[in-house]
Amino acid sequence: MKDMLARLEARRGEARLGGGEKRIAAQHARGKLTARERIELLMDHGSFEELDMFVQHRATDFGMEAAKIPGDGVVTGWGTINGRTVFVFSKDFTVFGGSLSETHAQKITKIQDMALKARAPVIGLFDAGGARIQEGVAALGGYGEVFKRNVIASGVIPQISVIMGPCAGGDVYSPAMTDFIFMVRDTSYMFVTGPDVVKTVTNEIVTAEELGGAKVHTTKSSIADGAYDNDVEALLQIRRLMDFLPANNTDGVPEWPSFDDPGRVAMSLDTLVPDNPNKPYDMKELILKIADEGDFFEIQEAYARNILTGFARIEGRTIGIVAQQPMVLAGVLDADASRKGARFVRFCDAFSIPIVTLVDVPGFLPGTAQEYGGLIKHGAKLLFAYSQATVPLVTIITRKAFGGAYDVMASKHIGGDVNYAWPTAQIAVMGAKGAVEIIFRQDLGDPDKIAARTKEYEDRFMSPFVAAERGYIDEVIMPHSTRRRVARALAMLREKAVEQPWKKHDNIPL
Ligand code: HXC
Repeated sequence: MKDMLARLEARRGEARLGGGEKRIAAQHARGKLTARERIELLMDHGSFEELDMFVQHRATDFGMEAAKIPGDGVVTGWGTINGRTVFVFSKDFTVFGGSLSETHAQKITKIQDMALKARAPVIGLFDAGGARIQEGVAALGGYGEVFKRNVIASGVIPQISVIMGPCAGGDVYSPAMTDFIFMVRDTSYMFVTGPDVVKTVTNEIVTAEELGGAKVHTTKSSIADGAYDNDVEALLQIRRLMDFLPANNTDGVPEWPSFDDPGRVAMSLDTLVPDNPNKPYDMKELILKIADEGDFFEIQEAYARNILTGFARIEGRTIGIVAQQPMVLAGVLDADASRKGARFVRFCDAFSIPIVTLVDVPGFLPGTAQEYGGLIKHGAKLLFAYSQATVPLVTIITRKAFGGAYDVMASKHIGGDVNYAWPTAQIAVMGAKGAVEIIFRQDLGDPDKIAARTKEYEDRFMSPFVAAERGYIDEVIMPHSTRRRVARALAMLREKAVEQPWKKHDNIPL
């Protein structure tokens, strides 16, 4: 018996070494942790239960029958993050470059199937060279099996991808179908085809970093939702993110103990909006003052910064926040901001996370660049996403809510449950200058007349009261009491239920 135990321990030891000491040292020399070290950091201490540690590939071509490494390039299993179950797979770059074989794919799909049955999130840690070249179509089939499960699980359990090394070829499309992608700066990159293929096909000469590094994907392509300086920081931030997310689409948001009084007032908010309506202010200040303990997990911080999206808590329960940022492009809605907002709203709605919307929007961005870039379709995504949302929607207009953007930003008309405005709100078809230039065009030669007309328009429309008179705004509130108002509205809406007509699925403008 003792012998058998020793043999088991020896086999486990061999599996834990993956591709061997030399490749582990190379991994460390690049500033990367190994697949198992990453899992250790991600999961609660001692909670990880590894599965399929002894799985080996079955390939025989190109001398592969003599090259078998237990685990086959991916470490899979389940464990807990702050006591809540999550499933994980972590690609082991030291084993065949983390490449995906038929059996490697089967290990991942086993985790996906188990997670779906257990209704718990899946986190994938990527560091891999794509399809196992020696296996050919068997690897492609394996990817297909993973992709299909990503889609079946979408909207049922949260799926998170963390890119911690190369991620190319077949490896990019599974993350692309998950809810969030995070990257590690300088050591990770993602692309469908690498620099060599790019050069052959298009003659472009680019580095891996220029083609698909964290900077590109967090600022230009919007593929990634965030980036961190190293493996440790990335994994600790994923733990923080998981604390905000529900386990699945029926569980409801997690509730953590909160020591922050929901009635806490913030007198400084009474002077947040400057007297000059064209002066910017930092909307993040309002977010931090509404949120429990000022804790805000921002999503897509570096992309379309004119809109802010992220998670916070009120009374210990997760909320999604969507807000204009007047500091960037005056908070205007453009194609990028609309797409960013829409995707976030849909995630929140799929997982029953109430949405708090903070509005200061001068409208949609005019111009050929926007129109040619599909502003109508992208703007419609945000409109569609809010209109179809059935989660509690609480909206606060702090300043401008002009034109179509007023409707889009969770207005009463498209489903806002509680719609408040600050006394500084201006709810109108457009700003006073533009309005007067159109409706009093005949007076344009007379500056005094124009000034008088502008004043008249401002007095009548540049306030929340025309909307409040119609009931489009439920109440004009004191800025300092915003947290209390939002907390009470969310508490009232906790059991919100909406009936909708049956359909197979909608047809959101993609
Ligand atoms: C088998 C692979 C591999 C792969 C890397 N390795 N990629 N083995 N299949 N796809 C092995 C290497 O042979 C090497 O083994 C070890 O992993 C480390 O690789 P290196 O090249 O030494 O490392 P590095 O210089 O860091 O380069 C990493 C890399 C590069 C950029 C990922 O290895 C690479 O370009 N690999 C091929 C990428 C690729 O074209 N994949 C196929 C994509 S097509 P030893 O024994 O020396 O340690 C695809 C189609 C699917 O995925 C589409 C589905 C929709």
